[in-house]
Amino acid sequence: MVTLIVLPNIYLCPLGLILTAVGGISLCDLMLNEGVNVPHLCGKACVCSSCIVNIKQGAEVIRIATNSEKALLATNRSDSRLSCQTVLGKAC
Ligand code: FES
Repeated sequence: MVTLIVLPNIYLCPLGLILTAVGGISLCDLMLNEGVNVPHLCGKACVCSSCIVNIKQGAEVIRIATNSEKALLATNRSDSRLSCQTVLGKAC
């Protein structure tokens, strides 16, 4: 079981949120299921980067980025991920 803390965001989740989930679900799907209106303009096909999130802690419980995800991340921030491609589960 993984606990995810969504920090407050005035547009997406004004009060913040604490979620729990088992592995195998993407951060995007988990947040959408809980009412956080995460942009996902390409339909979670890893081509738009609208779903970008910053991982502040807990990178050890998410799977590593694929090469296609890395290619889309147009930032040098090491904590940035595409939430549609970031799957909870053992990092590998
Ligand atoms: S929704 Fe387009 S890359 Fe994630």
